[in-house]
Amino acid sequence: MTDLFSPARFGAIDLANRVVMSSLTRNRAGAGNVPTPLIAEYYRQRASAGLILTEATPICAEGHGYPRTPGIHTAEQVAGWKAVTDAVHGAGGKIAVQLWHVGRISHPDLQPGGILPVAPSAIRPVGQVFTGQAMKDYVTPRALDLSEIPALIKTYAEAARNALDAGFDGVEIHAGNGYLLDQFLRSSTNQRTDGYGGSAEKRARLLLEVMDAVCKAIGPDRVGLRLSPVTPFNDISDDNPQDTFEYVVGQLNPFRLAFLDILQGTGGAPRETWLPFDYDRLRERYVGNLIRNNGYDFLTAQEAVTSGAADAIAFGRLMLANPDLVERFRRGAALNAPDYDRFYSGEEKGYTDYPVLQD
Ligand code: PHB
Repeated sequence: MTDLFSPARFGAIDLANRVVMSSLTRNRAGAGNVPTPLIAEYYRQRASAGLILTEATPICAEGHGYPRTPGIHTAEQVAGWKAVTDAVHGAGGKIAVQLWHVGRISHPDLQPGGILPVAPSAIRPVGQVFTGQAMKDYVTPRALDLSEIPALIKTYAEAARNALDAGFDGVEIHAGNGYLLDQFLRSSTNQRTDGYGGSAEKRARLLLEVMDAVCKAIGPDRVGLRLSPVTPFNDISDDNPQDTFEYVVGQLNPFRLAFLDILQGTGGAPRETWLPFDYDRLRERYVGNLIRNNGYDFLTAQEAVTSGAADAIAFGRLMLANPDLVERFRRGAALNAPDYDRFYSGEEKGYTDYPVLQD
């Protein structure tokens, strides 16, 4: 019987087990948003996961919206990531980088030359952004011109090539959580009247063109995708998420991706607060490997994999606080509690100092 400890093959990536480390922003990049040796150590400690999905990683300078998030668009960043992938591979793990563009979830203070962030439409998000010095209100972004879209798609493909140069086993395109590709997908943030807005088909077009370009650049068997159909995080919503995301998933089938990663509900939020959505219908429609994410514990994850509801489960907070989560699951051992105050700061504290089980 297939369970959480069974090996798996996701496209070209062999997983030793079906415990996936979810993507987690940790804000510890060095100068130039370069991954540091501390970041390499953090991921190396977690290499017993079947697959590590890195923190969200901007594909270009305009894709940044938070301080100290490591990018994958300069030679120094690629070299920094190479040390990370070497460390994980040396410890027997697999690692894919989550490719990110924040779109409107940024601020001129975080943009090259203080320019306006870009988005599908000039709609200001409600809320505030931490610029590294202060909390500031979001600004009204600049709507991308139709003529800029081909270059944006190329930027995703270049970042995917950079990822292979950096030694990653694959990439995960981030199209969730209210960032740029999700801003195109969902109706509240996309009010375009050209070929990239309006119907679900048109709102999904940019994502599908990005997937096509990235698959052509590095091969579909090294490409995954993150979606989060109902999270309201970053002031986003959709008039009909079930229809939108069933359409998207149907269109993904011909790509033969390595995996699809669905964040159910809202990251970190209690299940009772999740907006309604039928995730099993995505499972039925999607023919490839499915990772489900959010709020699982050992028993619910084991049930999801043994029943066939998922091919793997991604863990965020549990993996953050338990570098040896797979071994703890195997032994039924107690789990460390996450140090919430140090999720986004603290250097090595609350990052690389969680204890592992002693023999
Ligand atoms: C964050 O930095 O808060 C963040 C980044 C990417 C996500 C979610 C949250 O998908």
